[in-house]
Amino acid sequence: MIDQSTVDKILETANVVDIIQDYITLKKRGVNYIGLCPFHHEKSPSFTVSPSKGIYKCFGCGKGGNSVNFIMEHEHISYVEALKLLARRYHIDFVEKEMTADEISQKTERDSLLIITSFAQKYFTETLLHHKEGIAIGLTYFKERGFQKQTIDNFQLGYCTDDRDGFTQSAINSGFKIDYLIKTGLTLENPHWDRFSGRVIFPIHDLSGKVIAYGGRTLKTDKKTAKYVNSPESEIYHKSKVLYGIYQAKKSIVQQDKCYLVEGYTDVISLHQAGIENVVASSGTSLTTDQIRLIKRFTTNVTILYDGDAAGIKASLRGIDMVLEEGLNVRVLLFPDNEDPDSFSKRVSSTELKEFISNNEQDFISFKTKLLLQDTKNDPVSKANLISDIVRSISIIPDSIIRSVYIKECSTLLKIEERVLYSEINKIRRQKADHKYDQLKYPNQNINTVQPNVEEYNQVDLCEPQEREIIRLLLHYANIDLYRTKNEDTGEEQIIKLAAHIIADIRNDELDFINPLYRQLFEEYEHFVFENNVPDNKYFTNHSDPEIAGLAVDLLTSTYTLSKIFEKREAYIETEEMKIQEVVEITIVSFKMKKILMEISNIEDSIKSCTDPEELLSLLERHIKLKEINKNLSKGLGGIAII
Ligand code: CTP
Ligand code: MN
Repeated sequence: MIDQSTVDKILETANVVDIIQDYITLKKRGVNYIGLCPFHHEKSPSFTVSPSKGIYKCFGCGKGGNSVNFIMEHEHISYVEALKLLARRYHIDFVEKEMTADEISQKTERDSLLIITSFAQKYFTETLLHHKEGIAIGLTYFKERGFQKQTIDNFQLGYCTDDRDGFTQSAINSGFKIDYLIKTGLTLENPHWDRFSGRVIFPIHDLSGKVIAYGGRTLKTDKKTAKYVNSPESEIYHKSKVLYGIYQAKKSIVQQDKCYLVEGYTDVISLHQAGIENVVASSGTSLTTDQIRLIKRFTTNVTILYDGDAAGIKASLRGIDMVLEEGLNVRVLLFPDNEDPDSFSKRVSSTELKEFISNNEQDFISFKTKLLLQDTKNDPVSKANLISDIVRSISIIPDSIIRSVYIKECSTLLKIEERVLYSEINKIRRQKADHKYDQLKYPNQNINTVQPNVEEYNQVDLCEPQEREIIRLLLHYANIDLYRTKNEDTGEEQIIKLAAHIIADIRNDELDFINPLYRQLFEEYEHFVFENNVPDNKYFTNHSDPEIAGLAVDLLTSTYTLSKIFEKREAYIETEEMKIQEVVEITIVSFKMKKILMEISNIEDSIKSCTDPEELLSLLERHIKLKEINKNLSKGLGGIAII
């Protein structure tokens, strides 16, 4: 546990320019510094560091964050490790919060378990390479599978003798406690036999290369024996968060900016041996979100390489959606039936394998289309199902720009108008947002309480630029004094800060944000305004929710300094801040107009389908009123069309 004041001290002291300069050369450019981005290959510098904001941002690859993020990203280490590194650099005492007795015993327990797993790895490898049974059975098996000595060393493969408790006895003789042996899962609870007895051993490493668990493969062909046995969950092994091979793969994943995902231990090892090192497996479990997030620390490009059998296809389809949901790009390659990356790589040369992969991997839309078209054979109903299946996958993608690229591709491939796809996708996204909204039990202040329909969904995203602009203004100027007024009763001068003004204005009209991320940020500001304590933007760039932190960095570094709406109004304006009152008002009015236009369109739809005369009348009245409000608002804008 790190003491919060230590974290604050580190963040305050860390100078983002100094830190980044340890890794790359920066040149001063105005108030900022620029250099070649260390996270992607580029010839002209688009990597910008802002000392005043304490953040960096690459306009080429989009990576950005604060000092801690930079260290995490560059060194591939965790948040805590990055903080420790910075503390050392600035000679700040790294105060870990007083640990409770429970926490202390937990930590010592973790350490003890790690010592045992490391001991066991050495023991199993020693057995494989030097013990008579190990050589005759284990090593022979690996050799038959074509594993070279270097591969065996690299993956620290091993063998556990087939004598029930040979390992456990050795461990006890070396002074290890039986309790801990059981907790690692190496020894069974009752009787105290070896879990992996008679199996070849695949150690599972964490990111830093420590052995945290094992997979053991039987060499018996008897159907009753499980082919693989894996370590159980323990203090040091949470299987849903671990990827087999990540330690050996991470460097190559970064270099290639791509990660191959396979099904099994042997697939990882064989591909490595064939020269493809950026490969991991979600062994012992089906793919989890935490595992995808682990990949995301190294790359945003994932290719799923699974077997071509029914189970492999099913797992791929599930994998695709999960990867998309985390905002990563996904490609897929199914190996021919009855073949996996391991067997296939044995049949062909390393060059042929690489060619096969690059020629056959396809993006998820063409993958799904081909796969599903095989079954549908132009039957219209099945085709409709296919389309909705693909649309569902696209709707999962969090980034609207990437979504639009896929929509284009899908439109071409399936010969459907983009407009129709957008409408369907927005519908699904809206339903999901609503669902989340209900779950969080937010008070429903949304103006769009009218029955949802396709047209409305279509417009949902239309509000996005205005919502984003409001958040951008909050991040840049929340605490500036926007207005000075006199309190009519007391005659005292009152200062209204930008955040307070924007929030009051929007909430007075009972409006709310649609985009969940903007909404979350807006609500945080609302909370702080209420408490009269709005933090500066560092709070948001250092936010514990990485999505919020990322958005804050994006908006604080966005290249336009002046609202696009505003730019059209006058030919020359010095700075946004000088005209901030006008910028704020125009932004708020644009937001409100968008909301009203959306409601007008909803009402027009309801009018078309309304059969009840009384209801029709009230709809018409509301329609007239909204039109009027809209007209007044647009007068306020001076006739500027809103984007
Ligand atoms: N697996 C498991 N338990 C099993 C079977 C499989 O944990 N009883 C996991 C293992 O991580 C295995 C992966 O699922 O590596 C894929 O299973 P499979 O394709 O059956 O194994 P391979 O890795 O292909 O192993 P081999 O080539 O030795 O048969
Ligand atoms: Mn296999």
